[in-house]
Amino acid sequence: MSPHFPRAERFEVIAVVPPGLEEVAAVELADLGAEAVRPLRRAVACRTDLASYYRLHLRARLPFRFLRELARFPCRGRDDLHRGVQNAADWDVWLPPSHSFKVEATGALRGLDHSHYNALAVKNALVDRQRQRWGERSSVDLEHPDLVLHLHLSAGRPGGQGGTAVLSLDGGGGSLHRRGWRAAMGLAPLKENLAAGLIALTGWDGSVPLVDPLCGSGTLLIEAACAALGRAPGLEEGAGGPPRARDFGFRRWPDFDAAAWEREVTAARGSRRDNLADGRPLAEVLGRDQDPAVLAQARANAAAAGVALWIRWESGDARAFVPPPGPPGILVCNPPYGARLGDRDELETLYADLGRTLKDHCSGWTLWLLSGNPELTGALRMKASRRIAVSNGGIDCRWLRYDIR
Ligand SMILES: C[S@@+](CC[C@H](N)C(=O)[O-])C[C@H]1O[C@@H](n2cnc3c(N)ncnc32)[C@H](O)[C@@H]1O
Repeated sequence: MSPHFPRAERFEVIAVVPPGLEEVAAVELADLGAEAVRPLRRAVACRTDLASYYRLHLRARLPFRFLRELARFPCRGRDDLHRGVQNAADWDVWLPPSHSFKVEATGALRGLDHSHYNALAVKNALVDRQRQRWGERSSVDLEHPDLVLHLHLSAGRPGGQGGTAVLSLDGGGGSLHRRGWRAAMGLAPLKENLAAGLIALTGWDGSVPLVDPLCGSGTLLIEAACAALGRAPGLEEGAGGPPRARDFGFRRWPDFDAAAWEREVTAARGSRRDNLADGRPLAEVLGRDQDPAVLAQARANAAAAGVALWIRWESGDARAFVPPPGPPGILVCNPPYGARLGDRDELETLYADLGRTLKDHCSGWTLWLLSGNPELTGALRMKASRRIAVSNGGIDCRWLRYDIR
């Protein structure tokens, strides 16, 4: 580790999360050791040191990315932005001309209302400084940059002048919702981090059965099994040998602490179990779909995620579903809702039939259903006891809980 960086330094971090998962993501981050955790809109703010920043990347299931704040400054326009970026960090250390970079930008201010141009303004500020200092500049690499910078602009009080600019580093090296296990996808798969968040909202802890009767490529069940069996999402299962850590961008940062990183990777590997944390076996996890091709994808995905032994897949119509014998459990599902798949009348019949089957056979079970269309969920003829607003690929959805009597 470089002498420029004191070991115990703490910094502000913004975890970017799917809308609707802010509260449950805040709990996850606090459990993983983040401090001063505050849910925001589509984000959770917290404070970490380097070790916990690495831990979050390895083990948090819900965020897309973790932005590490470098500088925050008042911004009234282009000149403030240019100066603020140039003074935001010791760029000789963070971005020498031999390193490539890219800039992403979100938010807006009066006069700085176009993200693409704001990102260019950050890039220009950095390369201007490099040219003055070194006579040469870094190249921009959109695919595999050494450093990913993120600018967020937020307006001040209405009618007031300017606002705030926050310049951060993105440590992920790509969106963290991609775990590396999705070799195959069915139609309209859920993002892995959304699925993990939906499961967290059900409170399922692995001690009662979990069934997805319209499981598609299996995202909900695979994420559920991974969470219950301590699979770290930042580690990829290989063909034999210990799971390998993903190539996170922070490993190329000048303050990379290799010893802290190794400790966190070892701990993440150690969290992997064949049973629940308290030693009990995982309850039955069952996926069902009427499309055998999609089930083959679910099987391949579960194998790639290292949880194939714990999930049973069966082919069949959800409307003929009879739960496994034993205590009642939790049903989760993401049926087609018309925005992307399926025909309206057919779907209404499917929902009506599904409601009837569940009431006939699954009394005592809890159903959580992801709905993108309130008219279709009406056809279930059941009354939701909880409705949580979430967004699935930009579609406004509800994660609905039904207590089946
Ligand atoms: C939106 S997709 C589920 C996607 C899944 N959550 C994933 O992440 O891959 C809906 C699934 O319902 C299945 N399906 C539709 N009608 C069905 C029925 N009557 N019985 C069983 N499966 C059905 C389709 O084959 C499809 O895979």
